[in-house]
Amino acid sequence: MLYKFDVMLLNVNHLWKKYKNFVANEDVTLHVDEGEIVALLGPNGAGKTTLVKQVYGELYPTKGEIEVLGGKPWEGKIKRKMGVIPQECVPYGDLTVEDNLYYIARIKGLDRNTAQRNVQDIMEKLDLSKRKKVMTRDLSGGLKRRLLIGMALVNSPSLIILDEPTTGLDPEARRDVWNLLLSLKEQGKGMLLTTHYLDEAERLADRIYFLNRKVISEGTPSQIKEKFSAYYEVIDYSTGKTYYVKEDEIKDFVAKLNGRFEVRLPSLEEIYLKVINNDS
Ligand SMILES: Nc1ncnc2c1ncn2[C@@H]1O[C@H](COP(=O)(O)OP(=O)(O)OP(=O)(O)O)[C@@H](O)[C@H]1O
Ligand SMILES: [Mg+2]
Repeated sequence: MLYKFDVMLLNVNHLWKKYKNFVANEDVTLHVDEGEIVALLGPNGAGKTTLVKQVYGELYPTKGEIEVLGGKPWEGKIKRKMGVIPQECVPYGDLTVEDNLYYIARIKGLDRNTAQRNVQDIMEKLDLSKRKKVMTRDLSGGLKRRLLIGMALVNSPSLIILDEPTTGLDPEARRDVWNLLLSLKEQGKGMLLTTHYLDEAERLADRIYFLNRKVISEGTPSQIKEKFSAYYEVIDYSTGKTYYVKEDEIKDFVAKLNGRFEVRLPSLEEIYLKVINNDS
């Protein structure tokens, strides 16, 4: 199916998920296109994991439609084309790094040769080759996370679903993961990731959905910023002072400044708080 911009990999349409009488997802509509990273941003309990679990076929929707890679999430052939990192998932400790990757590749239906080839390839890419014989239980938390990413990618998926991919990683490992995800995007992979980190969403995402049970807002990081920021931040370098100035007053304001200055939009952090507070 061809859409306005790209090929749509995931289409979630008016999705509802209830746990008994509790509504965790309310009428959620979203999509992910080829070569696009989409971030789901929201506080604890916002329904992010609930939503992605339905996308990778672990939970059934109460109401609404999910179309993924031209099929339904619970179909075996569709699951095999997805790569998933669930929240709070760890690789199997009693297997080596290499074996964790190999067995997951086999489970995803790859034949032996392809599995072996892909395992070597992914270990290279993720800089895990020199640790391939290490028992997974002996890896650090960050390396376990990196291995999990490898396990999600070993079947060369078209759509990758990452539930808080960088939680618990140190800043350097986090940046490594970011670079890896950006290089996958360049290969045309689509990604749906959940995160609490605004800087992560800002750095990685083409589009952001603010979720708090329902979608509160959607757009590119800069659209979100524009939509929710009545004020710009003006930094006057000659005095080191920061001012918050309304958009229509910016011109007059900076005309009065003498030295170097910078005008920028507020951070997503501030916007996030504003959006969530307005909703509750
Ligand atoms: N199996 C379940 N039974 C009943 N309620 C559940 C179940 N799973 C999740 N919930 C509730 O649904 C809501 C959404 O949970 P969910 O895990 O989807 O949130 P989240 O956005 O992923 O949060 P976090 O950022 O903490 O991971 C929460 O209030 C949670 O307690
Ligand atoms: Mg979650």
